[in-house]
Amino acid sequence: MILVTGAAGKTGQAVIKALVARRQPVRALVRRDEQTQTVKSLGAEEAIVGDMRDATALKRAAQGVHAIYHICPNVSPEEIQIGKTAIAAAREAGVERFVFHSVMHPQTEAMTHHWNKLRVEEALFESGLAYTILQPSSYMQNVLGGWKAIVERGVYTVPYTVEAHMSMVDLDDVAQAAAVVLTEPGHLGATYELAGPEVLTQMQVAEILSKHLKRPVRAEQITIEAWTLQARASGMGEYQIETLTKMFHYYDRSGFWGNPHTLSQLLGRTPSKFDAFVERTIREGSG
Ligand SMILES: NC(=O)c1ccc[n+]([C@@H]2O[C@H](COP(=O)([O-])OP(=O)(O)OC[C@H]3O[C@@H](n4cnc5c(N)ncnc54)[C@H](OP(=O)(O)O)[C@@H]3O)[C@@H](O)[C@H]2O)c1
Repeated sequence: MILVTGAAGKTGQAVIKALVARRQPVRALVRRDEQTQTVKSLGAEEAIVGDMRDATALKRAAQGVHAIYHICPNVSPEEIQIGKTAIAAAREAGVERFVFHSVMHPQTEAMTHHWNKLRVEEALFESGLAYTILQPSSYMQNVLGGWKAIVERGVYTVPYTVEAHMSMVDLDDVAQAAAVVLTEPGHLGATYELAGPEVLTQMQVAEILSKHLKRPVRAEQITIEAWTLQARASGMGEYQIETLTKMFHYYDRSGFWGNPHTLSQLLGRTPSKFDAFVERTIREGSG
């Protein structure tokens, strides 16, 4: 049995699907009762409701599993504590494998949520657990947050320069890589950067969207102030706004790009290009 934390989120759901496709029994840790239905419909054998900040809940979830795939809630101010609690629960339960869903370039101190993940990686090195660390780049699926404006108004907005270079990765590829390291030998002690196969500017992203939607789409930079107003209106917390603002400033200066070689090796093929992701999104109507 493999425990997946953060299981009802977009990463968790993708990882469950990839594990179920490999006929692996999954126990899903979710926060709310109604999320048990979501994870069970994806094929999770068991669902446990609990808060990741609660050590007792994590210990209960870790009992009897042989591996844990730990996904911290997105941009959590408690990432380090949650990571350490998950590690302690894994040690107590004697799990054979702990895989941490980190992020590409956790060494970047300018991005608080990346830097926090580095601290969790450090705790893992010191834990004595048999671990693997996955460091995905930003997901192609993040573009879906602005899909309505892209399709209806032909505008793809980002709160940083449209010239920023990014190597976005398809979350489905990340989930397949997670399933590989959780179920195949040879990955203990490894830290893998998972970047998409091409480095694109946001203008190139808009061109690809335009080609598949068969309508003009332009990339447009919105100000951080405009983005903040939208984020507040959508109910985002102040810590998340502040942390993501730092990330956007960083993207503005440095972009966010890496190398796809490790992911290609894990998948045994070239990772999906953005072109294929957009084509699939339109074909499946999943935008
Ligand atoms: N997005 C990217 O491009 C990207 C790239 C690399 C790495 N990552 C990392 O991937 C991780 C997951 O991101 P995501 O976008 O999949 O997140 P997400 O969709 O927001 O999912 C997070 C899940 O965790 C649950 N959760 C929140 N607080 C919890 C708590 N205290 N106890 C138990 N469950 C809790 C949420 O439930 P509710 O619905 O109740 O809130 C949700 O189901 C993050 O650590 C992020 O840094 C993301």
